[in-house]
Amino acid sequence: MSAKKRATFGGRISAVLVSAGSAIGLGNIWRFPYLAGENGGAAFLLFYVLAILLIGLPLMLAEFSVGTATRSSAVAAYRKLGKRWSIVGYIGVLTAVIILGFYLVVAGWTAEYTVASLTGELMAQPNAEAHAAAFQNFISHPWRPLLYAVLFALATHLIIALGVQKGIERSSKVMMPLLLLFMVVLAIRSCTLDGGMEGLRFFLMPDLTKVSASTILAAVGQAFFSLSIGLGTMVVYASYFAPKTDLQRTAVEVSILDTLVAVLAGLVIFPAVFSAGIEPGSGPSLVFITLPSIFSKMAFGGVWATIFFLLLVLAALTSTISMHESFTAYLVDDWKLKRKTAAYLTTGVAIVLSVVASLSLGDWSGVKLFGMTIFDAMDYITANIMLPAGALLACLFVGWRMDKQLVTEQLYPETHPNKWVMGYLRLMWRVGSPLLLVLIFLDSLGFI
Ligand code: PHE
Repeated sequence: MSAKKRATFGGRISAVLVSAGSAIGLGNIWRFPYLAGENGGAAFLLFYVLAILLIGLPLMLAEFSVGTATRSSAVAAYRKLGKRWSIVGYIGVLTAVIILGFYLVVAGWTAEYTVASLTGELMAQPNAEAHAAAFQNFISHPWRPLLYAVLFALATHLIIALGVQKGIERSSKVMMPLLLLFMVVLAIRSCTLDGGMEGLRFFLMPDLTKVSASTILAAVGQAFFSLSIGLGTMVVYASYFAPKTDLQRTAVEVSILDTLVAVLAGLVIFPAVFSAGIEPGSGPSLVFITLPSIFSKMAFGGVWATIFFLLLVLAALTSTISMHESFTAYLVDDWKLKRKTAAYLTTGVAIVLSVVASLSLGDWSGVKLFGMTIFDAMDYITANIMLPAGALLACLFVGWRMDKQLVTEQLYPETHPNKWVMGYLRLMWRVGSPLLLVLIFLDSLGFI
């Protein structure tokens, strides 16, 4: 798509829907609970919310502004505004494909679980141990998870290639409220399980004595991951926003929705974890063991499970689309490829990465990067290093380098700027966020 005939989304509601579609996904329902479980529960939640408020919201506004000011994908956008800063875009697109690689694996698991719910295979497991064993068998199977990851990549590709984002945009209007409703029902069911209260305490009453730098870094990384920021995805999406879209309201609404889904996921998972005697720090498998255990304690569990995993598949799909789009749009804008060719190339790279990530949980589990499986390393390095680094540079760029007037015009296209808001945002971009990020980095490396 050339700059002249660049597509735009309908209006502000569409802007919220597509951005929330990107933000809400496996990050909220799979990654957030597993990290919270590993990092002390409530303390993690506290730093996660702080990270969203203090660094996340200003950063999302920074990325939105770069997007609407340039109407370009990440690399081209930063280059247009400040030549050497294209590096921020490059880090971003690289991060996007790597995340897409391991994300497709987990998305594949949700697709498999949808099928297993439908066939009744999932509900046939008698207890949490059986669910844990079944999950382990599945992810280490030599080809089944690969098949599902590849199918998921192809589904993402098809939507990008057919240009049916409009359909996705429209179905989001139904799907997201439905997902929320389901989560509320599940949270109620989970909190009323025997022993559920202990889970609630774990998730809601912070024990600050157990907080370490790595907890905070993980919370900050998760905040970026969940809001899809720090890698230019929101730059690309904002470049499609209708002119004069109210960026502040959009960012606030997206952040609220995204946080709500993560908190609900915690309210669903932790009571059930404690009730079933599952270890909260059991890592990426947590949700896939806990959720089926809740469903098997519900009337018509199989039906609930099928619908829920299907909603999860759709939530994951709107996120994989945004990562795919980040890379595809880069290839179109920078390599001048046809959109179709660019989409094929992106899908190809994503499939290769996802196959490697998936195999690293089975046959290749002996291969270690920095002491982690390839899957874990892809997850850790992107969220805890690349996203914070991208965020740091993006804040510095918008705070110091981008034309002040241009930034203000993006945030206040029609009204008089609020000088308090602009003052706060500038402070956070220039010193607040960079300082916090550097301190957290240094601390987690053991320098403080
Ligand atoms: N935010 C998405 C989620 O929470 C994942 C994502 C990360 C999407 C980065 C786009 C870019 O599932």
